[in-house]
Amino acid sequence: MSDSTDNKEGSGFMGSIRRLSRRLSGTVLSADSRDVKAYLVRNDKRNIYSYDGEDQLKVGGIVLKELAEEYGTPLYVYDANRLVDNYRLYLGSLKNVKNFMLCYAVKANPNLALLNLFYKLGAGFDVVSGGEIARCLAAGVDPAKIIFSGCGKTVEELTVAVKADVQCINVESWEELDRIEAVASRHNKMQNISIRVNPELNLDGLSHPNILTGSGGHKFGVPIGEAVAIYSRAKASASLKIKGISCHLGSNIDKLEPFIEARDRLLALADELRQELSICVEHINLGGGFAAQISGASAHVSETPAADTIPQWVERLAKPITERGLKMVLEPGRSLVADGGVLLTKVEYVKAPPYGQQHPIVPGQLKGGHEASAGLTTEFKYNVAGPICETTDVFHRDLVLGQKLESGDYVIIVDAGAYGSSMTSNYNTRNKPAEVMIHDGHPTLIRERETYEEQFKREKLVLDLKLKSLNTVEEAESQEDLNNAA
Ligand code: LLP
Repeated sequence: MSDSTDNKEGSGFMGSIRRLSRRLSGTVLSADSRDVKAYLVRNDKRNIYSYDGEDQLKVGGIVLKELAEEYGTPLYVYDANRLVDNYRLYLGSLKNVKNFMLCYAVKANPNLALLNLFYKLGAGFDVVSGGEIARCLAAGVDPAKIIFSGCGKTVEELTVAVKADVQCINVESWEELDRIEAVASRHNKMQNISIRVNPELNLDGLSHPNILTGSGGHKFGVPIGEAVAIYSRAKASASLKIKGISCHLGSNIDKLEPFIEARDRLLALADELRQELSICVEHINLGGGFAAQISGASAHVSETPAADTIPQWVERLAKPITERGLKMVLEPGRSLVADGGVLLTKVEYVKAPPYGQQHPIVPGQLKGGHEASAGLTTEFKYNVAGPICETTDVFHRDLVLGQKLESGDYVIIVDAGAYGSSMTSNYNTRNKPAEVMIHDGHPTLIRERETYEEQFKREKLVLDLKLKSLNTVEEAESQEDLNNAA
């Protein structure tokens, strides 16, 4: 993708946005994760983008065309107000739920500016690697606000966490328990822990199978049947202090029932621990996983919870927990940031398929527009694809638009704030995109676009590499003779 645009009247950004907005009332593409895409047909008030009287598409009051011109594309654009609103939705429940800790799941979007924003709002942080701990510290986060999960913690990562006095480490296995104990003992620390149990629920069909974690056989956590035994082992340690019980079911789950079921299993376990081992846990951590508040349906989210259901869900989940004097911890990621960002992209090519065939294109027109009889809108059908050398690099198939897309047009992919930027890769040696946050009507570049030099700088040539070059067929053959002779 290139970083600038020809902005001829009627084409380019303005043209495409006018067309998209007029004809489709704000129809845009939505990507709520890397390969789960949705198509929006609503432009309700929850969207962070809007059109002004001149049909200019804006986020947070800033015209996207201007951002594209200044910072290039592809560009992530976040609306700080929406992130704050989403956070407050969770906190809205606080008037009824006093004993509640909200930890932002850093993996959803780890940009320092977002971490700092949530920290200023009072959030805790759920991290899963040494890198995420380092990011939190770089964003000014107090380690006492950090909960460390993740199923492959290294000795180095645990040492950083223990020495920094993170609030709690969620233990994912028996082996990890031994390791944490050894690290804590080596540094003369008493480390707070919680065991992440796998509640082994039937979660079939509740989300994309690759992002479910709370069914039997998943690599995360300790099977709930072994929980009493591992708590008993932890209790015997002189370097570990038991604080809670944790779980995480998966991501993008749009039903409350599985969370309730998991909560009840964890509360039953808390009772068992008290009765059998005299262990009194202080918190129940139900992980993250609420579906994002996007305004359209996606492959795995039939009804996205309405914005105001979050406080109700939190309240319903918390009631029996807090009634026992325990604290509830939640670790939302997607539902805090997904609808707070868009990905601003530029159409490079509109590729026509061979007649009658469907053909992945970049982005491409699958079906030519047909002139319908008077009064009906012409429709164009597209597969919107990226440039990556993978057949899965498609944002949306069979997207029906009321207007042709042209090279140089801009398209925004909405609800791209979660697991978008954080899951970018350098495959095909493409630079990672820039990111901008809009706050109080001002854009701030919160991540510069990567450069090729930055990508190569840790790579080295082997300077004494001596290879015989095979320039001709004769040379190749003689080399083969030599090889055969050898
Ligand atoms: N807590 C733990 C321990 C987690 O593993 C996760 C997400 C969360 C909290 C936050 O879940 P959320 O509220 O964001 O659903 N890469 C995937 C998403 C993976 C989510 C992994 N764990 C994607 O492409 O959508």
